[in-house]
Amino acid sequence: MKHLLSLNDWSKKEIEDTIELAIKLKKNPHKCINALSCKTLLMLFAKPSLRTHLSFDIAMYQLGGHAIFYDLSHSTLGEKESIKDFSKVISRYADVVMARLYAHKDIEELARYSDVPVVNGLTDYYHPCQALGDFMTIKEKLGKIRGVKVVYLGDANNNVTHSLILEAQRVGASLIVSSPNKKEFLPNPAAIGKARYEYEKNPERAVKNADVIYTDTWMSYQIPKSQEKRRMKFLKMYQANGRLFAVNKKALFMHCLPAKRGAEVTDEVMDSPRSIVYDQAENRMWSEKAILLKLLGAKIK
Ligand code: NVA
Repeated sequence: MKHLLSLNDWSKKEIEDTIELAIKLKKNPHKCINALSCKTLLMLFAKPSLRTHLSFDIAMYQLGGHAIFYDLSHSTLGEKESIKDFSKVISRYADVVMARLYAHKDIEELARYSDVPVVNGLTDYYHPCQALGDFMTIKEKLGKIRGVKVVYLGDANNNVTHSLILEAQRVGASLIVSSPNKKEFLPNPAAIGKARYEYEKNPERAVKNADVIYTDTWMSYQIPKSQEKRRMKFLKMYQANGRLFAVNKKALFMHCLPAKRGAEVTDEVMDSPRSIVYDQAENRMWSEKAILLKLLGAKIK
């Protein structure tokens, strides 16, 4: 059973084929119009979502299938029912499951007992659908992936950073982290294993030769509000702002969104012509179509 829990599970070829397919589907949206006819995607959410929820739902609809939204805060999971029983039951109804959870070990358990493919729609460790859509966007904008330099600014102990590091390693891009040199803000070795990334503490030096400057929220969903003030103090020198973008006049700006304008990024950068954040958001949908088609083994002409 093939799942997408982490990009560690996918080979270089699988990643590259998914990106190519997503680009092909975007150019020719009617190609797969009924490819998933009568198939159902069950979407489980333990955390809020805008892009993941809507892009998967609309992707399924446009492929001729159906998506069900299921809010885990009103469910039997964990309290009344084990992950095993939950997973066995949902596999009898749905053809594919997408889950947004807190602990990564929970999605691994869900997948272990599932008889249908499980897709990670974000856990505390990873966000593989985001990273696949992001490298699709890089390919569209720069015409290549191999050799592209992506500088990740800010809180790098982060699901999006981990997935970008794993994917960059597979597809031959460079990932440079610029963050405080503290365990709290550095990629978690338990999530990235032996995958390599470069590190440059000084954000101005880091962005100098970047093709892409990427950042994400300083307050991911699982971080308690009480930590906000203290984290801002450590992270403020990594803000994506006009001063930093003046150091490199060509790099594109990426953010997985949601963004807190005025914290990790300023309006000036978000709204600049170099910002491709809405293309990224759109490409979530095209790459998720490719992921679903691949996992469900749909025939693609
Ligand atoms: N790192 C962020 C990503 C949101 C899409 C979070 O986990 O909240």
